[in-house]
Amino acid sequence: MSGFDVKYAEYQRLFEERLENFCNKLNCQPQILKESLIYSLKLGGKRIRPVLMLSFADLLGLDKNNVLNFALALELIHTYSLIHDDLPEMDNDDFRRGKPSNHKVFGTGNAVLAGDGLLNTAYSILFTECFNGDEFISASKYICDCAGINGMIAGQSADLSHENDEEIDENILDFIYLNKTAQLISASCITPSILCKGKYYSEIKTFSRDLGFLFQLTDDILDVEGSFENVGKSIGKDVAEGKYTAVKLYGLEKSKVRADLIADRCIKMLEGIKGDTGFLKEFVYFIRQRIL
Ligand code: IPE
Ligand code: IPE
Ligand code: MG
Ligand code: MG
Ligand code: MG
Repeated sequence: MSGFDVKYAEYQRLFEERLENFCNKLNCQPQILKESLIYSLKLGGKRIRPVLMLSFADLLGLDKNNVLNFALALELIHTYSLIHDDLPEMDNDDFRRGKPSNHKVFGTGNAVLAGDGLLNTAYSILFTECFNGDEFISASKYICDCAGINGMIAGQSADLSHENDEEIDENILDFIYLNKTAQLISASCITPSILCKGKYYSEIKTFSRDLGFLFQLTDDILDVEGSFENVGKSIGKDVAEGKYTAVKLYGLEKSKVRADLIADRCIKMLEGIKGDTGFLKEFVYFIRQRIL
Protein backbone atom coordinates (compact mmCIF):
# COMPACT_ATOMS: atom_id res chain seq x y z
CA MET A 1 0.00 0.00 0.00
CA SER A 2 1.26 3.51 -0.83
CA GLY A 3 1.34 6.28 1.78
CA PHE A 4 -1.74 7.72 0.10
CA ASP A 5 -3.64 4.42 0.38
CA VAL A 6 -2.74 4.09 4.05
CA LYS A 7 -3.95 7.62 4.83
CA TYR A 8 -7.13 7.16 2.76
CA ALA A 9 -7.88 3.90 4.61
CA GLU A 10 -7.27 5.64 7.95
CA TYR A 11 -9.76 8.43 7.13
CA GLN A 12 -12.24 5.85 5.83
CA ARG A 13 -11.91 3.81 9.03
CA LEU A 14 -12.55 6.86 11.20
CA PHE A 15 -15.67 7.63 9.20
CA GLU A 16 -16.92 4.02 9.12
CA GLU A 17 -16.66 3.90 12.92
CA ARG A 18 -18.86 6.99 13.20
CA LEU A 19 -21.33 5.55 10.67
CA GLU A 20 -21.41 2.17 12.43
CA ASN A 21 -22.22 3.89 15.70
CA PHE A 22 -24.99 5.87 13.98
CA CYS A 23 -26.47 2.71 12.40
CA ASN A 24 -26.35 0.80 15.69
CA LYS A 25 -28.32 3.55 17.41
CA LEU A 26 -30.83 3.99 14.58
CA ASN A 27 -34.21 3.43 16.13
CA CYS A 28 -37.21 3.65 13.84
CA GLN A 29 -40.27 1.68 12.86
CA PRO A 30 -41.45 -0.08 10.78
CA GLN A 31 -38.58 -2.48 10.23
CA ILE A 32 -38.58 -1.94 6.44
CA LEU A 33 -37.75 1.76 6.94
CA LYS A 34 -34.75 0.94 9.12
CA GLU A 35 -33.63 -1.82 6.78
CA SER A 36 -33.83 0.38 3.69
CA LEU A 37 -31.82 3.18 5.33
CA ILE A 38 -29.11 0.83 6.51
CA TYR A 39 -29.07 -1.06 3.20
CA SER A 40 -27.94 2.00 1.24
CA LEU A 41 -25.66 3.43 3.93
CA LYS A 42 -23.78 0.18 4.28
CA LEU A 43 -23.58 -0.72 0.58
CA GLY A 44 -20.09 0.70 0.63
CA GLY A 45 -19.03 3.55 -1.57
CA LYS A 46 -15.71 5.33 -1.73
CA ARG A 47 -16.61 7.83 1.02
CA ILE A 48 -14.75 10.54 -0.88
CA ARG A 49 -16.71 13.35 0.80
CA PRO A 50 -15.94 12.26 4.39
CA VAL A 51 -12.31 11.57 3.43
CA LEU A 52 -11.99 15.05 1.92
CA MET A 53 -13.53 16.66 4.98
CA LEU A 54 -11.20 14.83 7.36
CA SER A 55 -8.14 15.62 5.27
CA PHE A 56 -8.99 19.35 5.14
CA ALA A 57 -9.50 19.28 8.91
CA ASP A 58 -5.98 17.84 9.23
CA LEU A 59 -4.53 20.38 6.81
CA LEU A 60 -6.04 23.29 8.72
CA GLY A 61 -5.00 21.91 12.12
CA LEU A 62 -8.57 21.22 13.24
CA ASP A 63 -9.41 18.34 15.60
CA LYS A 64 -11.03 15.70 13.35
CA ASN A 65 -13.68 15.01 16.01
CA ASN A 66 -15.11 18.42 15.16
CA VAL A 67 -16.03 17.34 11.64
CA LEU A 68 -17.16 13.73 12.05
CA ASN A 69 -20.83 14.61 12.52
CA PHE A 70 -20.70 16.98 9.54
CA ALA A 71 -19.14 14.17 7.50
CA LEU A 72 -21.92 11.85 8.63
CA ALA A 73 -24.65 14.36 7.70
CA LEU A 74 -23.06 14.94 4.31
CA GLU A 75 -22.76 11.23 3.54
CA LEU A 76 -26.43 10.80 4.51
CA ILE A 77 -27.34 13.57 2.07
CA HIS A 78 -25.12 12.04 -0.64
CA THR A 79 -26.68 8.60 -0.10
CA TYR A 80 -30.20 10.02 -0.30
CA SER A 81 -29.25 11.77 -3.56
CA LEU A 82 -28.08 8.44 -5.00
CA ILE A 83 -31.26 6.57 -3.96
CA HIS A 84 -33.43 9.22 -5.63
CA ASP A 85 -31.08 9.52 -8.62
CA ASP A 86 -31.54 5.80 -9.36
CA LEU A 87 -35.36 5.87 -9.28
CA PRO A 88 -37.21 4.81 -12.46
CA GLU A 89 -38.42 8.38 -13.03
CA MET A 90 -34.90 9.76 -12.66
CA ASP A 91 -31.94 7.76 -14.09
CA ASN A 92 -33.67 4.38 -13.83
CA ASP A 93 -30.60 2.53 -12.61
CA ASP A 94 -30.93 -1.00 -11.27
CA PHE A 95 -27.50 -1.14 -9.65
CA ARG A 96 -25.61 0.97 -7.18
CA ARG A 97 -22.27 0.15 -5.57
CA GLY A 98 -22.39 -3.28 -7.19
CA LYS A 99 -25.72 -4.23 -5.61
CA PRO A 100 -29.38 -3.78 -6.59
CA SER A 101 -30.49 -0.15 -6.15
CA ASN A 102 -32.62 0.67 -3.12
CA HIS A 103 -35.88 0.71 -5.11
CA LYS A 104 -35.11 -2.70 -6.67
CA VAL A 105 -34.98 -4.19 -3.18
CA PHE A 106 -37.61 -2.19 -1.29
CA GLY A 107 -39.83 -0.79 -4.07
CA THR A 108 -40.11 2.77 -5.35
CA GLY A 109 -42.31 4.11 -2.56
CA ASN A 110 -40.00 2.85 0.16
CA ALA A 111 -36.96 4.16 -1.73
CA VAL A 112 -38.50 7.65 -1.89
CA LEU A 113 -39.10 7.45 1.86
CA ALA A 114 -35.58 6.13 2.57
CA GLY A 115 -34.16 9.15 0.71
CA ASP A 116 -36.47 11.54 2.56
CA GLY A 117 -35.54 9.87 5.84
CA LEU A 118 -31.81 10.25 5.23
CA LEU A 119 -32.17 13.93 4.30
CA ASN A 120 -34.31 14.63 7.35
CA THR A 121 -31.93 12.85 9.67
CA ALA A 122 -28.99 14.75 8.20
CA TYR A 123 -30.75 18.01 9.08
CA SER A 124 -31.35 16.80 12.60
CA ILE A 125 -27.61 16.04 12.96
CA LEU A 126 -26.76 19.51 11.61
CA PHE A 127 -29.22 21.23 13.98
CA THR A 128 -27.61 19.41 16.89
CA GLU A 129 -24.18 20.67 15.75
CA CYS A 130 -25.50 24.24 15.90
CA PHE A 131 -25.41 24.08 19.72
CA ASN A 132 -21.60 24.03 19.53
CA GLY A 133 -21.28 27.68 18.49
CA ASP A 134 -21.49 30.23 15.69
CA GLU A 135 -19.04 28.54 13.31
CA PHE A 136 -21.01 25.31 13.63
CA ILE A 137 -24.20 27.19 12.70
CA SER A 138 -22.48 28.68 9.65
CA ALA A 139 -21.10 25.31 8.55
CA SER A 140 -24.52 23.65 8.95
CA LYS A 141 -26.20 26.38 6.91
CA TYR A 142 -23.50 26.07 4.24
CA ILE A 143 -24.11 22.33 3.85
CA CYS A 144 -27.90 22.86 3.65
CA ASP A 145 -27.45 25.45 0.91
CA CYS A 146 -25.11 23.22 -1.11
CA ALA A 147 -27.67 20.40 -0.95
CA GLY A 148 -30.65 22.62 -1.74
CA ILE A 149 -32.48 24.42 -4.51
CA ASN A 150 -29.45 26.55 -5.41
CA GLY A 151 -27.17 23.55 -5.15
CA MET A 152 -27.43 19.83 -5.78
CA ILE A 153 -31.20 19.89 -6.39
CA ALA A 154 -30.78 22.61 -9.04
CA GLY A 155 -28.19 20.47 -10.81
CA GLN A 156 -30.36 17.36 -10.67
CA SER A 157 -33.34 19.33 -11.95
CA ALA A 158 -31.32 20.70 -14.89
CA ASP A 159 -29.89 17.22 -15.55
CA LEU A 160 -33.43 15.88 -15.80
CA SER A 161 -34.93 18.68 -17.84
CA HIS A 162 -32.14 18.61 -20.43
CA GLU A 163 -32.34 14.87 -21.01
CA ASN A 164 -32.47 14.10 -24.74
CA ASP A 165 -31.54 17.65 -25.82
CA GLU A 166 -29.99 17.48 -29.28
CA GLU A 167 -27.54 20.35 -28.79
CA ILE A 168 -25.25 20.64 -25.77
CA ASP A 169 -24.55 24.15 -24.50
CA GLU A 170 -21.31 24.42 -22.53
CA ASN A 171 -22.85 26.84 -20.01
CA ILE A 172 -25.69 24.47 -19.22
CA LEU A 173 -23.25 21.59 -18.91
CA ASP A 174 -21.16 23.63 -16.44
CA PHE A 175 -24.31 24.48 -14.47
CA ILE A 176 -25.24 20.79 -14.22
CA TYR A 177 -21.77 19.61 -13.17
CA LEU A 178 -21.17 22.42 -10.72
CA ASN A 179 -24.49 21.96 -9.00
CA LYS A 180 -25.37 18.29 -9.06
CA THR A 181 -21.87 17.16 -8.06
CA ALA A 182 -19.45 19.94 -7.15
CA GLN A 183 -21.68 21.52 -4.49
CA LEU A 184 -21.55 18.56 -2.08
CA ILE A 185 -17.85 17.99 -2.76
CA SER A 186 -17.27 21.66 -2.12
CA ALA A 187 -19.21 21.47 1.15
CA SER A 188 -16.88 18.67 2.32
CA CYS A 189 -13.79 20.76 1.70
CA ILE A 190 -15.15 24.07 2.99
CA THR A 191 -16.75 22.87 6.24
CA PRO A 192 -13.36 22.65 8.05
CA SER A 193 -12.45 26.11 6.77
CA ILE A 194 -15.70 27.59 8.14
CA LEU A 195 -15.01 25.93 11.50
CA CYS A 196 -11.56 27.61 11.40
CA LYS A 197 -13.18 31.05 10.90
CA GLY A 198 -12.70 31.04 7.11
CA LYS A 199 -9.04 29.99 6.90
CA TYR A 200 -8.11 29.66 3.17
CA TYR A 201 -11.82 29.90 2.34
CA SER A 202 -11.50 31.32 -1.19
CA GLU A 203 -8.60 29.02 -2.17
CA ILE A 204 -10.49 25.97 -0.93
CA LYS A 205 -13.69 27.08 -2.63
CA THR A 206 -11.99 27.44 -6.03
CA PHE A 207 -10.12 24.16 -5.57
CA SER A 208 -13.20 22.20 -4.51
CA ARG A 209 -15.42 23.46 -7.34
CA ASP A 210 -12.79 22.33 -9.82
CA LEU A 211 -12.36 19.01 -8.02
CA GLY A 212 -16.14 18.46 -8.07
CA PHE A 213 -16.27 19.31 -11.76
CA LEU A 214 -13.40 16.89 -12.39
CA PHE A 215 -15.22 14.21 -10.41
CA GLN A 216 -18.33 14.40 -12.60
CA LEU A 217 -16.20 14.55 -15.75
CA THR A 218 -14.46 11.31 -14.74
CA ASP A 219 -17.82 9.79 -13.78
CA ASP A 220 -19.08 10.48 -17.30
CA ILE A 221 -15.88 9.08 -18.82
CA LEU A 222 -16.27 5.93 -16.70
CA ASP A 223 -19.85 5.55 -17.91
CA VAL A 224 -18.32 5.03 -21.37
CA GLU A 225 -15.15 3.09 -20.67
CA GLY A 226 -15.45 1.77 -17.12
CA SER A 227 -16.57 -1.71 -16.08
CA PHE A 228 -19.47 -2.80 -13.89
CA GLU A 229 -17.02 -4.79 -11.73
CA ASN A 230 -15.08 -1.61 -10.89
CA VAL A 231 -17.67 1.16 -10.72
CA GLY A 232 -20.56 -0.98 -9.42
CA LYS A 233 -23.07 0.75 -11.73
CA SER A 234 -24.47 -0.14 -15.14
CA ILE A 235 -22.23 1.19 -17.92
CA GLY A 236 -23.47 3.09 -20.99
CA LYS A 237 -26.50 4.49 -19.15
CA ASP A 238 -25.75 8.12 -20.04
CA VAL A 239 -26.10 7.50 -23.78
CA ALA A 240 -29.12 5.25 -23.21
CA GLU A 241 -30.87 7.95 -21.13
CA GLY A 242 -29.82 10.83 -23.41
CA LYS A 243 -27.81 12.50 -20.63
CA TYR A 244 -26.16 15.89 -20.98
CA THR A 245 -22.48 15.04 -20.58
CA ALA A 246 -19.05 16.35 -21.52
CA VAL A 247 -18.47 13.17 -23.51
CA LYS A 248 -21.51 14.03 -25.65
CA LEU A 249 -20.24 17.59 -26.16
CA TYR A 250 -16.48 17.12 -26.61
CA GLY A 251 -16.09 13.39 -27.33
CA LEU A 252 -14.12 10.96 -25.17
CA GLU A 253 -10.56 12.03 -26.00
CA LYS A 254 -11.15 15.77 -25.63
CA SER A 255 -12.98 15.10 -22.34
CA LYS A 256 -9.85 13.37 -21.05
CA VAL A 257 -7.65 16.30 -22.09
CA ARG A 258 -10.06 18.61 -20.30
CA ALA A 259 -9.89 16.42 -17.21
CA ASP A 260 -6.07 16.62 -17.26
CA LEU A 261 -6.20 20.42 -17.46
CA ILE A 262 -8.64 20.70 -14.57
CA ALA A 263 -6.54 18.30 -12.48
CA ASP A 264 -3.47 20.51 -13.10
CA ARG A 265 -5.46 23.56 -12.05
CA CYS A 266 -6.49 21.80 -8.83
CA ILE A 267 -2.85 20.99 -8.02
CA LYS A 268 -1.83 24.63 -8.65
CA MET A 269 -4.59 25.86 -6.32
CA LEU A 270 -3.20 23.70 -3.53
CA GLU A 271 0.16 25.40 -3.88
CA GLY A 272 -1.45 28.55 -2.48
CA ILE A 273 -2.16 26.80 0.82
CA LYS A 274 0.55 26.50 3.48
CA GLY A 275 0.93 23.13 5.17
CA ASP A 276 1.17 19.52 4.07
CA THR A 277 -0.98 19.29 0.94
CA GLY A 278 0.69 16.03 -0.22
CA PHE A 279 -2.35 13.85 0.46
CA LEU A 280 -4.70 16.24 -1.34
CA LYS A 281 -2.43 16.46 -4.38
CA GLU A 282 -2.50 12.68 -4.63
CA PHE A 283 -6.25 12.80 -4.10
CA VAL A 284 -6.57 14.92 -7.26
CA TYR A 285 -4.64 12.30 -9.26
CA PHE A 286 -6.74 9.58 -7.66
CA ILE A 287 -9.90 11.30 -8.96
CA ARG A 288 -8.39 11.92 -12.40
CA GLN A 289 -7.15 8.34 -12.80
CA ARG A 290 -9.87 6.55 -10.93
CA ILE A 291 -11.39 3.37 -12.27
CA LEU A 292 -13.89 3.10 -9.39
C1 IPE B 1 -21.69 9.09 -7.40
O1 IPE B 1 -20.87 9.53 -6.37
C2 IPE B 1 -22.53 10.23 -7.86
C3 IPE B 1 -21.79 11.27 -8.53
C4 IPE B 1 -21.70 12.46 -8.06
C5 IPE B 1 -21.13 11.01 -9.79
P1 IPE B 1 -19.70 8.60 -5.82
O2 IPE B 1 -18.92 8.06 -6.97
O3 IPE B 1 -18.95 9.36 -4.79
O4 IPE B 1 -20.51 7.41 -5.16
P2 IPE B 1 -20.11 6.37 -4.03
O5 IPE B 1 -20.51 7.01 -2.75
O6 IPE B 1 -18.62 6.11 -4.09
O7 IPE B 1 -20.93 5.16 -4.35
C1 IPE C 1 -25.45 12.05 -10.04
O1 IPE C 1 -24.86 12.10 -11.28
C2 IPE C 1 -25.23 13.15 -9.18
C3 IPE C 1 -26.11 13.11 -7.99
C4 IPE C 1 -26.43 14.18 -7.40
C5 IPE C 1 -26.62 11.84 -7.45
P1 IPE C 1 -25.00 10.71 -12.06
O2 IPE C 1 -26.42 10.38 -12.30
O3 IPE C 1 -24.07 10.72 -13.21
O4 IPE C 1 -24.41 9.71 -10.95
P2 IPE C 1 -24.37 8.14 -11.11
O5 IPE C 1 -23.59 7.85 -12.37
O6 IPE C 1 -25.78 7.66 -11.19
O7 IPE C 1 -23.63 7.68 -9.89
MG1 MG D 1 -28.21 11.42 -12.47
MG1 MG E 1 -27.36 8.45 -12.12
MG1 MG F 1 -22.95 8.98 -13.85
